[in-house]
Amino acid sequence: MKNILIALLLFAATSYAQRTETLLEKGWRFHRGEVAGAQAADFDDSRWEQVCIPHDWAITGPFDRANDLQTVAVTQNGETEASEKTGRTGGLPYVGVGWYRTEFQVNPQKRTTLLFDGAMSEAEVYVNGRKAVFWAYGYNSFFVDVTPFVHQDGSRNVLAVRLENRPQSARWYPGAGLYRNVHLIQTNPIYVPVWGTQALTTCHQGEWDVELRTKIIGAESEDLEVTTTIRDMKGNVVATKSDVRRVQKSDDGDEAGLFVQHIPVKSPKLWSPENPHRYYALTQIRVGGVVQDEYATPLGFRTLDYVPEKGFYLNGRLRKFQGVCLHHDLGPLGAAINRSAMIHQLKMLKDMGCDAIRTTHNMPAPELVELCDSLGFMMMIEPFDEWDIAKCENGYHRYFDEWAEKDMVNMLRHYRNNPSVVMWSIGNEVPTQCSPEGYKVANFLQNICHREDPTRKVTCGMDQVDCVLDNGFAAMIDIPGFNYRAYRYEEAHRRLPQGLVLGSETASTVSSRGVYKFPVVREDGKIYDDNQCSSYDMEACWWSNIPEADYHNMDDFDWTIGQFVWTGFDYLGEPTPYDTDAWPSHSSYFGIIDLASLVKDRYYLYRSQWNRNDHTLHILPHWTWPGREGEVTPVYAYSDYPCVELFLNGKSLGRKAKAEEGCRYRYMWNDVVYEPGELRIVAYDEYGVAAEERVVRTAGKPHHLELLRADVEALHANGKDLAYYTVRVVDKDGNLCPHDGRLVQFSVEGAGSFRATANGDATSLDAFHLPQMHLFSGQCTLIVQVAEHAGEVRIAAKAKGVKPAQASVMVE
Ligand code: GAL
Repeated sequence: MKNILIALLLFAATSYAQRTETLLEKGWRFHRGEVAGAQAADFDDSRWEQVCIPHDWAITGPFDRANDLQTVAVTQNGETEASEKTGRTGGLPYVGVGWYRTEFQVNPQKRTTLLFDGAMSEAEVYVNGRKAVFWAYGYNSFFVDVTPFVHQDGSRNVLAVRLENRPQSARWYPGAGLYRNVHLIQTNPIYVPVWGTQALTTCHQGEWDVELRTKIIGAESEDLEVTTTIRDMKGNVVATKSDVRRVQKSDDGDEAGLFVQHIPVKSPKLWSPENPHRYYALTQIRVGGVVQDEYATPLGFRTLDYVPEKGFYLNGRLRKFQGVCLHHDLGPLGAAINRSAMIHQLKMLKDMGCDAIRTTHNMPAPELVELCDSLGFMMMIEPFDEWDIAKCENGYHRYFDEWAEKDMVNMLRHYRNNPSVVMWSIGNEVPTQCSPEGYKVANFLQNICHREDPTRKVTCGMDQVDCVLDNGFAAMIDIPGFNYRAYRYEEAHRRLPQGLVLGSETASTVSSRGVYKFPVVREDGKIYDDNQCSSYDMEACWWSNIPEADYHNMDDFDWTIGQFVWTGFDYLGEPTPYDTDAWPSHSSYFGIIDLASLVKDRYYLYRSQWNRNDHTLHILPHWTWPGREGEVTPVYAYSDYPCVELFLNGKSLGRKAKAEEGCRYRYMWNDVVYEPGELRIVAYDEYGVAAEERVVRTAGKPHHLELLRADVEALHANGKDLAYYTVRVVDKDGNLCPHDGRLVQFSVEGAGSFRATANGDATSLDAFHLPQMHLFSGQCTLIVQVAEHAGEVRIAAKAKGVKPAQASVMVE
């Protein structure tokens, strides 16, 4: 149903004769490396690789420590001396030049605009051999009116894009290439430019008003009739307004004229994460009765109040952000965007009880924002990891002075109508926070936010607590956001005037899925010979903490407004604590969910706190420890139930209740002595009645593979939808063999094909794009992509020494 609604909206947004919008997805040619003259219209690209956009040229690897070997001091991690860093940006070959070429046809009577959702990076765009635009920042969306460059006779036009990624330009894997969509937009000469509307929704004593500010180009001397209808996502009209007048001069110096309408809306359904009711405004512009343009603006109705000492209120209801930070890569798909992959991620986060996303540390893909609108996630959108002072030798600081305002404006105009966006961030842990003039830069950026969007507050992820409390930086940000340093929240609250503190980045607990280390100790920066971290969730970095410290702040102080955990999913690059000469580690250990989209134990710790609709009862570790007989093997349970009891081979090891000391957030039996068999946990409700139980058994010999569909989405024959499968090796009774690491091979036939695979092991050098993968802790993920025709997809997995598995799924 949702897909039909989305299709309806897209149809509404693209199907008018006055305006056409197409994605330039197919028929591209790609070449890795510099080529002289490749921008020329008559350049022969016939021997270049054929690719579809979105495309990430580096994700196929191969992984190699030489790809991103750096000798640097990571200053924000407190390092003062340079050392050899490996895998810091994913160990993938993203550095260098890449060229893309394609052709497109236009109606020469129309205006033609090219819109790039993101191009990594330093994009030079050529149309018919002439340079149309340069855009430096790889994460931002930008557009260019190419009308002067296209052929007037309707013949095919050549689009060439040169991209360049410099070494040491990022602190994580940035991706490479045209990794987001490219749109070709055609309009009449009187038209609304890209992101040309601003919908300000306000509520006065129960009455809602939409102030729709529409920019119109080419109509300075015309009498316009502008009709806006506000519709719900089924297309039902809930309000309509027609005005006849001329455009007024734009108040922001833009060449376009401005047309302001006020549209009262009666009792709209409010947007919230739980009930993400969306609307859109459809604006029709007529001259002399003839429609010139029709433009759809997404909108939603909700109130945001940040009340000193009391907290954050959405639609009048107090709540705290249960958020995660997300980098933009999609694990084995790399940076190349895919809606299905995002839906899969978001639904996993939803089930965890997560209600907010911080797009670290850059502008998101538009698909993510639209999905946060429709699935119900509050968003903090953040543009930068660097301002004018460098973190990386070739980072954004090279562009800041010239580009910061342009980049901010694009971000703000792009997303200021989306109801999911509840806050802007102006940056992350920028070194500028400690410079004496740093507050001026912050003020400059915050003012741009206020100017472009008077409805939302601004934050900044600050980590240098001493600096920002002393130098006035933190005091001038609308909402002071602190990264880590949970123990300094009270001091910050006391010393700052805002009366609110946000955990803009929290936790950075590290773990490897299915890996448990003994003895279990709470330790920072712990490293092991196998380059893994323990899933007892007791290990963090010197600057970070385990989840409990943040829970305390959120639960015990009214003036905290919630947190954004680092991170929801593991990402490529930043393999802390294995980033200093520790190859082959090349992806993060911070994720609550691993790089293969398989949950770690920590998922249930957050779920037990955040998901208030469903109970959580989870037990760890696994119970297959040959050789540990007689040794202390602690057992933890993550649960919202007020009381739980642990049994080992039928014998009770004791009940524990939330009210007891040390049991507020997790239940721990630290003295359990391992014996093979059955570990059973029973949860009791508030009346002491046994409500649920979970059992973990010692696994026998590996017997067969399992292929289990991990998502539930319907698959459409669009060539893009993905199905996620979890691949497991189990014993004859179906118990996971948690130490198994054998190689599994896949085949996919019929109405789909193999797309990617991953196992979540930060040290694995297996390529994501080849149909085989080693299991990690007994599991891996297979991603299947549908064809453009309906039918059955047949999937098979085989591995030496165990029985194979088959699955099938229908594509509609
Ligand atoms: C923060 C930083 C993040 C990431 C994280 C790892 O300081 O903002 O980008 O590096 O540390 O703990």
